[in-house]
Amino acid sequence: EKGGFEHFMLKEIHEQPLTLRKTMLDRINKENDVVFEGLDLTPADFDKIYIIGCGTAYHAGLIGKNVIEKLTRIPVEVDIASEFRYRDPIVNDKSLVIVVSQSGETADTLAALQESHRRGAKVLAITNVPSSTIARDADYVVPTMAGPEIAVASTKAYTAQLITFYLLGIYLAQEKGTLDDLYRVSLVQALKELPMQVENILDDAYELKLFAQSIKNKKNLFFIGRGLDFAVALEGSLKLKEISYIHSEAYAAGELKHGSLALVEEGTPIIALITQQDLYEKTVSNIKEVKARGADVMGITLEVNVDLFNVVDEVCFIPKTNALFTPILSVVPLQLISYYTSLALGNDIDKPRNLAKSVTVE
Ligand code: M6R
Repeated sequence: EKGGFEHFMLKEIHEQPLTLRKTMLDRINKENDVVFEGLDLTPADFDKIYIIGCGTAYHAGLIGKNVIEKLTRIPVEVDIASEFRYRDPIVNDKSLVIVVSQSGETADTLAALQESHRRGAKVLAITNVPSSTIARDADYVVPTMAGPEIAVASTKAYTAQLITFYLLGIYLAQEKGTLDDLYRVSLVQALKELPMQVENILDDAYELKLFAQSIKNKKNLFFIGRGLDFAVALEGSLKLKEISYIHSEAYAAGELKHGSLALVEEGTPIIALITQQDLYEKTVSNIKEVKARGADVMGITLEVNVDLFNVVDEVCFIPKTNALFTPILSVVPLQLISYYTSLALGNDIDKPRNLAKSVTVE
């Protein structure tokens, strides 16, 4: 049942090229338009979009916000489901609420959906379980085709959620008429390349295993990045603490000197995500700040940035793609680092302590 893998988590990480392909299937036509059969969403009907989820689904929403805003110029807010309901959100019949849930049964996310309905909003669910309560209660359902996810730590559901947000963002922009044809075609072509690119990253995990060995006895680790890289840093940090039990935090790289830099000392491991070319120099200067305090830095960057070797201790390269899509690639090394760290520590990888796969209590 684990398909020859030692754990479900590793199997699920390796399924991602396939699950990405499945989630894209039938969503792109011959003309490279994005199609969502039966989704009669008119962007002009709403002036605001809310994205709501918990944990990893929330992290996917942070990427979704970035992508939808960039492509459609519709303002998007992202909320943690357990916070949303209690803050008297300005949701009404001009809002589109997108709830994200792998299981479709998360109590807080379901309650946020119901609260949104009470306030008159239409709700679209991105879920991996089309027969779930959340799917049943939503007005629209876009299924992720990740297949059953058994490991508590979410991996393939996250990347399936990301690709769904990319498709949805392109679709909404198409419907709004704001997407230049040539740009749309280049985006869709880049999307189609992602599964193969993930495969390439998976083929070469040797350095990541070594890195996992080097951090397994550390007490603290930090992830840093700007923009989309910060959103991926949050996901990487959650994954690491969830299964390795090592304390870690993710910081927006530019925020370090506003306080957290005080935590960096000789030998503190830092994983720096640096995939957004327009922010490259800015993040490099943040990396230099932590290096100057003695941090050991692993950089995750695009293959073109070979010069990063001059700044950090180790580099993990990911293939070139559109700047919006790097999260699907950069999260894969983070998933593997978490997995191999947890493996090196002898933890129960698929069933980490204190956690359940589906959180059905508020
Ligand atoms: O089933 P859901 O997507 O609603 O679950 C949300 C979170 O509980 C889930 O993503 C959790 O954070 C994962 N264990 C993280 O790996």
